[in-house]
Amino acid sequence: MAAAAKIPGVRGGSNMDVAVWCEAAILTVPFDAVESLNAFASLLSDKLVLSAVNPLRFEGSVIQYALRDRSAAELAASALPRSRVATAFNNIPAAFFRGHQTQADVLVAADSEKTYEEAATLIATIGGLRPLYVGPLSQAQSVERLTAIILSAAALAGGPRLTVRFVPA
Ligand SMILES: NC(=O)c1ccc[n+]([C@@H]2O[C@H](COP(=O)([O-])OP(=O)(O)OC[C@H]3O[C@@H](n4cnc5c(N)ncnc54)[C@H](OP(=O)(O)O)[C@@H]3O)[C@@H](O)[C@H]2O)c1
Repeated sequence: MAAAAKIPGVRGGSNMDVAVWCEAAILTVPFDAVESLNAFASLLSDKLVLSAVNPLRFEGSVIQYALRDRSAAELAASALPRSRVATAFNNIPAAFFRGHQTQADVLVAADSEKTYEEAATLIATIGGLRPLYVGPLSQAQSVERLTAIILSAAALAGGPRLTVRFVPA
């Protein structure tokens, strides 16, 4: 709320308050908070919910994926059965939003093309980001796992933050 107050035209509030009036929600919580999402199920009903959540486990410089079967986005979809859940921004470092110097792809896994289109419209409003449809929500684990690879590669190389951009082969 305090951060929103510093940005002209931006309105903040508690998670509950914002869930009431938002048109779309972006989940940027630690993985272990996903299970508490069912408290928002009715407030986020019929809304687009984009999950940036990556279930990761840090083992020194190597970052491992922390789930076996499902993905964080699928668990979010189970907790929010009447929302349109898709992945987005999982592979984009927070630093990108403080002034991007590069182009990046936002991988969107969603169970319908309509949900993808809705997500893509929102993503395309952010400079430097290109939405890419990667298929149904069952692809979410691959999207989330990619973050473990990106973070591990950056940490092992001791270099700058990395992100993802697909180019024609
Ligand atoms: N950081 C990145 O570059 C980046 C990029 C892509 C995706 N992500 C994903 O985004 C998620 C958050 O990462 P982060 O780096 O932003 O972590 P963070 O700095 O620790 O922020 C976590 C946020 O979640 C809130 N939160 C924690 N537990 C909660 C709960 N039980 N219910 C509701 N809100 C809760 C925290 O609120 P309080 O401050 O009030 O505790 C805080 O605002 C992770 O799943 C991560 O994989 C991060």
